[in-house]
Amino acid sequence: MPGSAAAPVVYTFPAVPALQESLANFIVKAQTDAIAKRGRFTIALSGGSLPNNLSPLAEHKDIQWDKWHVFFSDERIVPLDHADSNYAACAKAFLDHVPIKREQIHTIDVSLFTDETKADPTAGPKDADKAEEEAVEIADEYEKQLVGCFAAGNSARYPTFDLILLGMGPDGHTCSLFPGHELLSESSRWVAEVQDSPKPPNRRITLTYPVLNHAFRCAFVAAGEGKQDMLANILDRPEDGLPCSRVRPAAPGLVFWFVDEAAAKKLNYPATEYKWIEDDDMQGSEDAIAAERKKMKAEVDAVVKSHQ
Ligand code: 6PG
Repeated sequence: MPGSAAAPVVYTFPAVPALQESLANFIVKAQTDAIAKRGRFTIALSGGSLPNNLSPLAEHKDIQWDKWHVFFSDERIVPLDHADSNYAACAKAFLDHVPIKREQIHTIDVSLFTDETKADPTAGPKDADKAEEEAVEIADEYEKQLVGCFAAGNSARYPTFDLILLGMGPDGHTCSLFPGHELLSESSRWVAEVQDSPKPPNRRITLTYPVLNHAFRCAFVAAGEGKQDMLANILDRPEDGLPCSRVRPAAPGLVFWFVDEAAAKKLNYPATEYKWIEDDDMQGSEDAIAAERKKMKAEVDAVVKSHQ
């Protein structure tokens, strides 16, 4: 976890429709900011319940789809029209309904699938070595797509996404980074394969922490009563080191949480009303961000103190 990372900013909403509306506003602001500074918008999407929360984007007027480069923070090793595919879920929710060119959407290369995977992607491989080789190849190819998109204009060691949208699993996982998994300490690969995901299907690829923690913005979305305990664990006890708590982009990166009141019920961590926050690069905004961060830090410190 980068030492200079800013504290998470938590936004709560009375219900999911309000959350979705502000999330759409946030994505559009991030887009506009990125295009103004870097001429394009790079975003990574997750699976689970996230795609449905993105459906308002299909109707949004202020989106410059020709400037978007879409990746997936994790993907299941299944065909792109499979019910378990994160791409398919996002396509259904909004990508199929907007004027974005297919080549701007970076999906896994299904031509690398073995015959076994093609025949039955979720059956569980009979030949473990061949399956391992296949998964490594798919992850490496996806990493090459990242290199192709980021390496040209960016001499940094890691890709710097403008925005990575994330979910929080019931065990505190995010992307396909699961508690106790060896990938939590992966420090050089940008994309890695997972063959033993406790959440089905068990074969996936995932972005790694070096990528998550070099993004300009990461934003989690978590809604519903079922998220109460885990959300409190992640934000109030980050020292437990659960996968979601480890998402702390290095400065000037920021991490945000969009949660509904049902999910936030057991949270001590201070929440604020939704308001777009610029990153440190934005001219003239430094004081505002510094003030906002100072306020957040004071609030967090007060909560921590009250628990001692
Ligand atoms: C995946 C997802 C995963 C998801 C969480 C939360 O491919 O499984 O990317 O990381 O975001 O499991 O899922 P829910 O939002 O459905 O709880």
